[in-house]
Order: sequence, then structure tokens, then C-alpha cells
Amino acid sequence: MLHANSEGLAPGSDVVAVNGGIGIDIIGVDKIFGASGANGFRALSPISLGINAGEFVSVVGPSGCGKSTLMLMVAGLMKPTNGQVKIEGSGLTGPLTEIGIVFQDHLLLDFRTAEANVLLQGEIRKLSMGPVRKRAAELFESLGLQASADKYPNQLSGGMRQRVSLARALVHNPPLLLMDEPFGALDALTRLQVRRDLETLWLQQRPTVLFITHSVEEAVGLSDRVIVMGPSPGGVVEEIPIQLKRPRPLAFGESPELRDYANRIYAHFERLGVLH
Ligand SMILES: Nc1ncnc2c1ncn2[C@@H]1O[C@H](COP(=O)(O)OP(=O)(O)O)[C@@H](O)[C@H]1O
Ligand SMILES: [Mg+2]
Repeated sequence: MLHANSEGLAPGSDVVAVNGGIGIDIIGVDKIFGASGANGFRALSPISLGINAGEFVSVVGPSGCGKSTLMLMVAGLMKPTNGQVKIEGSGLTGPLTEIGIVFQDHLLLDFRTAEANVLLQGEIRKLSMGPVRKRAAELFESLGLQASADKYPNQLSGGMRQRVSLARALVHNPPLLLMDEPFGALDALTRLQVRRDLETLWLQQRPTVLFITHSVEEAVGLSDRVIVMGPSPGGVVEEIPIQLKRPRPLAFGESPELRDYANRIYAHFERLGVLH
């Protein structure tokens, strides 16, 4: 189990448990949809990538390059065409359970309130509900959702629903977080707040995080390592360790180093014709 070291750690938050993270190996994984052979559609070139327990890794790449496909395969929700995903050294054979997932489109149950959607995590895992309720209340407060707890998904804005799905992914303090463009539906200010909340949470609990985004700033600001993917069918163009202390500034103007990392990624996208 990995524990937070002291760099930049926010003091004394009252969390349910420190789970540390779990390690992932993505070994030669690719995806071809539809017919096998030449008639299939190749969505992902073979990818090999190791993610250490407690590491925060972002995948950044253009729309359609296969980021969501990769995440679904890591979650065990889609089978790779070739290759294998290993979790803590064991081959993945079905959907992972000890994880928190935030999908690109929030997937909330319409017939449950926001709070009941979040508490569902504890119910299906048969966790002791006292700490889960407490953690849910903390998350609702830090995500600005207190007034929304009793509302149903169709009474909430897209940004609010996305924040509820973030709370749902975090409430059981999972050792692995898979996040697919989790901030996409948020307004700019909330997006910065939630990014900071995620960084704080990660510093406290060190879950392993696979964070998928098309935002270079978010990837550089949050990650230990950024995986840059090329256009469809995406493959890894460069792996960039981000060796900067945390917490990192939200505005890159304050940090020439952050800006340099971001420019290095933009240069790939320009060279690959993703940016003109
Ligand atoms: N179930 C599917 N069947 C056929 N094609 C798919 C399926 N899912 C995704 N694709 C295609 O695979 C490519 C990669 O998709 P996706 O992983 O969603 O990209 P990203 O998340 O990077 O935008 C896209 O061209 C998409 O249309
Ligand atoms: Mg996607």
C-alpha cells in the first residue's frame, strides 16, 4: 500500500480510509471494431503502458483517437482485440469492482435523488453506511452540491449531474479511479475547483488514477505522467513525466515550467496535424 508523502499535502482531512492504489499493466492492447481482419475498424493501435500503484497518469489526445475505448478496456467493460490488461499482476477477466469510474456522460439513475445515487456505491458494496454518508456529505459540500442532495437528476444542470457522478466515483475511496473527461460538462470556475479538489484528494489518499482528457492544462497540472496519443487510430506518441512539486498552480501563467510541458504537448499535436 502506498501512502501520501508530505509534499504539499493538505492538512488533516477526515477521510474514511486510505486505500493507496493498485498497479495496472496494459500490454499490447488494441481494438478493432466490427468485422475481423481488413474489414474491421481499427480504433486503437497497440498500446503498452504500466501504471504504478498510486500514480496519477493522464491520457491526452484528439477526439476519436481511442481514449474512451482504452479506458473501457482497463475497466474490464470491453475486451481488447489483442493484448491484455493486468491488475496487480493478474489478467483481467471481467469488470473491475474496486474502482471508481466517471464517464464522459454522467450515468445517474433517474429514479434516485443525487444523494441516493451516490449512496448506491455503499449499498451495492455492502459497506457500513455511516462513514459512507459522512463522506458523501463532505463531497457534496466540496463540490457545491449541498442544495442538490434531494433533487433528481432531471432537476439538475449538466454540470451538477457531472459533479454528482464525481461524488459517486469517490465516495467509497476506491484504490483506482478511472476518469473519462470528467470535467467536460463543468463551467470554467467549477472545473478549476473540482480539479483542485481532485488533486487534494489524490495527495491525501494516493489512489491510482487514469485520467482521460483533451485538456493539456489539466493533464499537465494533475499528473505524474502524461501519455500523449496521436490521431485515430491512436497510439502513444510520447510519455512525459511531469516533475513538478504539488500542489500546482491552476493558472499556468504562474509557472513557466508548466507552460513548457504544455507547449511540448501542443508541438506534437501541431506536427501531427491535430492543431493547425
Ligand atoms: N462500439 C463501437 N463500435 C464501433 N466504433 C466505435 C465504438 N466505440 C468507439 N468507436 C469508434 O472508435 C474510435 C475511438 O472512439 P473513442 O474511444 O470514443 O475516442 P475518444 O474517446 O478518444 O474520443 C472513434 O472513431 C469511434 O467512433
Ligand atoms: Mg472519449
